[in-house]
Amino acid sequence: MELRNEEVLGDYFVIKAEEDGVNVIGLTRGAETRFFHTEKLDKGEVMIAQFTEHTSAIKVHGQAIIQTKHGVIQAESKE
Ligand code: TRP
Repeated sequence: MELRNEEVLGDYFVIKAEEDGVNVIGLTRGAETRFFHTEKLDKGEVMIAQFTEHTSAIKVHGQAIIQTKHGVIQAESKE
C-alpha cells in the first residue's frame, strides 16, 4: 500500500478519557463538514490518532485530557 505524505505527516493528538463514554468524533475535511466516525472511550482509555486526508477536525464530548502540539487541554463534562 502506498502511503502519501499527508497521511503519514499529519499531526497526532492524544486523548485520555477521564470518565466512561467519552466520544471522539471525526469531522471530514473539505467543503462538506460531516461527522464520519465516533470512537467511544471508557475511563482510562487512550486514543492516539492523526489528522489525515479525511479528518480535519475532531470534537471531544465528555471529560478527557487532550494533548496536541499546541498544548494540553482539559475537556469538561457538562454536569
Ligand atoms: N479513517 C480515518 C482517517 O484516516 C481514521 C481517523 C484518523 C479518525 N483520525 C481520526 C477517526 C480522528 C476519528 C477521529 O481519517
